[in-house]
Amino acid sequence: MDIDLKKFETEGYLGPFSINDQSYFNSLLKERYIPKNLYTWYKSPHEKSQKLVKIASDKNILSKLKILLKENILLWGSLFVDQKPDGQHAWHLDVEHGSWNGVTVWIGLNNLSEKTSLSIITHTHLLKTAPLELKKKLNVDHTKDQAVLEEAKKLDPRCELKKFYLKNGEFIIWSGRIWHSTLNQSSRIRQSIILQYCTPNNKVKIPTNFDYPNTAWSKTEPPCILISGKDEFNFNKVLLKKDLKFIDSFKILTVYSLRYKISHFLRKFRKVLSN
Ligand SMILES: [Fe+2]
Repeated sequence: MDIDLKKFETEGYLGPFSINDQSYFNSLLKERYIPKNLYTWYKSPHEKSQKLVKIASDKNILSKLKILLKENILLWGSLFVDQKPDGQHAWHLDVEHGSWNGVTVWIGLNNLSEKTSLSIITHTHLLKTAPLELKKKLNVDHTKDQAVLEEAKKLDPRCELKKFYLKNGEFIIWSGRIWHSTLNQSSRIRQSIILQYCTPNNKVKIPTNFDYPNTAWSKTEPPCILISGKDEFNFNKVLLKKDLKFIDSFKILTVYSLRYKISHFLRKFRKVLSN
């Protein structure tokens, strides 16, 4: 599929596309064991994960980003998402992109099937509201596709629901403000990664709530990585690829893997006890 800039600007998304080199997905997934206290906030594992920076700089992704964002590109956010069976991430707008413009890349990594969906509503990146705001003001049920779609259509009749059943290694690119939701109706944990980019002329911030438009922001500066080109603005805390201090894979596979599994087990154990 070719990149259609006009379609992206009007409908707000492109894809699905496929990552060419998926040979390192297993080792990439292990990097989610890196403890969160080693990076600045929950959307910056890119500070410490070499494989994450590798996928964020994937040629296939980057060539498309360069058409959408041009030459100078910051990676400002990244997040591994494990979605449990029967898990739903209801309709929402990523509040960060309510404040600055950018692009999100959502990549399916493991256990993607016809039972794991990713949905977007086209044209919603042009709207000045968000599903949670509609829930608060009009009691729109943000867990229901049709309820959110109906409301979106009132604001722009061109809005259309697109539901994708991606395969492992496939990705969608959307304009940061697109309303989206995910659902896992399979019996396995669905694993994906979100990569969020912008141009250096945007000031990136860390939200302290998920409200839109009344988002509150932290004073801490989120670390970004210059994936391509130059930053001539100096608005953000930008790390150069050559200066990154990644966590050693051996340590991830031994110490951090064990730590992650123990804390996961303890969480489950406490849940059982409290029920
Ligand atoms: Fe999201």
